[in-house]
Amino acid sequence: MYICETKEHLREVMSSFKAKGSVGLVPTMGYLHDGHMTLVRTAANENDAVVASIFVNPTQFGSQDDLEKYPRDMERDLMMLRDAGVAAVFTPTPEVMYHPDRQTIVETTDLANKLMGALRPGHFRGVATVVTKLFNLFQPDRAYFGEKDYQQLAVIRTMVRDLDIPVIIRGVPTVREADGLAMSSRNARLTEHARAAAPILWQSFQRAKELLVTGANAATLRQAIWDMIAQEPLARVESVDIQDAATLAPVDGPITSDIVILLAVTFDPVLLIDQCVFKVAKETS
Ligand code: PAJ
Repeated sequence: MYICETKEHLREVMSSFKAKGSVGLVPTMGYLHDGHMTLVRTAANENDAVVASIFVNPTQFGSQDDLEKYPRDMERDLMMLRDAGVAAVFTPTPEVMYHPDRQTIVETTDLANKLMGALRPGHFRGVATVVTKLFNLFQPDRAYFGEKDYQQLAVIRTMVRDLDIPVIIRGVPTVREADGLAMSSRNARLTEHARAAAPILWQSFQRAKELLVTGANAATLRQAIWDMIAQEPLARVESVDIQDAATLAPVDGPITSDIVILLAVTFDPVLLIDQCVFKVAKETS
C-alpha cells in the first residue's frame, strides 16, 4: 500500500492506477471502524483498485475544541486499510492540504443550510470544499459515502451534479453495533453511561416504525420520538427532523411518500447524529 503524504506523490501513484483500470475512493477522517471498512469493501467489489484518504479536515469543524478532541490513530488505520487490500492512502497535514493564502471555497446553499447545516454553520461548506479538492487530486471513477451522514451524501451528490464533476457517487447503508448504535468515530468519546444510553436513538426509530404502521402523521411522529429520547436523562435532543427522503424537504401532516428521520442528540459534550429511511408502501389502484 502506498502512503502518500504529498499531493505530488499521490498524483504520480494515481496516474499509474488509472492507466490499469477503475479506481474507487473512500474519503475518511480516520479512526476507522466497520462502517468505513464497509465502504472499502463495497468499493473493492466495484473497482479494480481502492484508494482512501485520512484527513481530519479543520474547515468542517465548528470549534477548535471539537477538532482537537477528534480521535486519531493513524497506525491502526493504516493497518486496517492495508489488510483490506487498499492500494494507496493519502494522509496530508492541513498545511499540505490547504494553501496558506487560499481564497476559494465551494459554497453550498439551501440544502446545506438546513438541518445539520443550521446546527453547525459552515460545516457543509468545509465538507464540499475538501471533497472537491479530494476529487480533483484523486480523479476517481467512483467515490463512496455513508447514508449515516444522509445530508452530507445529498450535498455531495448535488454538488457533483451542479459542478459537473466527473465521478459516480455511491451511497452505502449505515452499519450499526449489535445494540443498534450507528458506528461512529465519535462513539469513542462517550462516557460508559452515555454509551449505554445511546441506543435510545435506534430504539426511537423502531417506535417510529410502529407508529407509521398505525398511520401517524409527521407531527405526531416527531413529538413521540422527541419525548422518547428526552426521557433519557443523559440525552439532550438538538433536533428531530422528518424530511422527504429524496429531496430533504420538510414533511408535515400525512406521510404519503418515503421519508427520512434525522436525529441530532448530544450526550454531553458529544453530538451524535443518526438517520433512518422509512419506505411508505404506495397504494395501487
Ligand atoms: P468520516 O466521519 O470519517 O466518515 C467517512 C465516511 O464513512 C462517510 O462517508 C461516512 O458517512 C461513512 N460512515 C461513517 N460511519 C458510518 C456507518 N456507521 N455506516 C456507514 N458509513 C459510515 O464523513 C466524513 O468523515 C467527512 O465529512 C469527509 C467526507 C471525509 C470529508 O472530510
